[in-house]
Amino acid sequence: MLEGETHLSQLSTLITKEEIENRVAELAAEIREDYLGKNPLLLGILKGSFVFMSDLIRKLNIPLEIEFIRLSSYGAGKEPSNRIRLVHGINVPLKDRHVLIIEDIVDTGLTVRYLHDYLNRKRPSSIKLCTLFDKPSRRVVDVTVDYLGFKVPDTFVVGYGIDFDEKFRYLPDLCIMEGQV
Ligand code: PRP
Repeated sequence: MLEGETHLSQLSTLITKEEIENRVAELAAEIREDYLGKNPLLLGILKGSFVFMSDLIRKLNIPLEIEFIRLSSYGAGKEPSNRIRLVHGINVPLKDRHVLIIEDIVDTGLTVRYLHDYLNRKRPSSIKLCTLFDKPSRRVVDVTVDYLGFKVPDTFVVGYGIDFDEKFRYLPDLCIMEGQV
């Protein structure tokens, strides 16, 4: 408990839960217009996307399906192309489906690139990306973001699904963690 309290005191709010809620509603309106009648498959990348996914689908209000895939980044010491590990894949057919990837944050872009390669082999009709947060200054590979919530600076952020050492995913605001890079 003491350790948790120490960490909480190091946090400062970057984007409030009200700002997030308003932006999620705007993104939902855009996505609704583009996907109405297409029965899209929203594919969340675990663990980080679970909070965003649950808020977004309840604001979308159109017929859709959801799936989750679990990918994990290795430490920075690995070669970039080998850094992503598939922990849990998906078994549903994707042929002729409109897939919308739901991410909490895009950083180097390696997770999304890995997922594109994985999904392309399953021959969907379309693949697009919606991420709530983006750190473009950290990009290692090019990624096209189709729906973006907020650009964030190159600081260590936690909350709204994003963790530090598995902590702080539950925070409703997006917070900067002081002393981390
Ligand atoms: C984080 C985040 C993204 C990914 C972005 O996931 O949720 O999925 O890193 O980083 P990248 O653009 O550099 O690939 P992480 O691998 O930490 O797993 P988690 O979602 O379980 O926290």
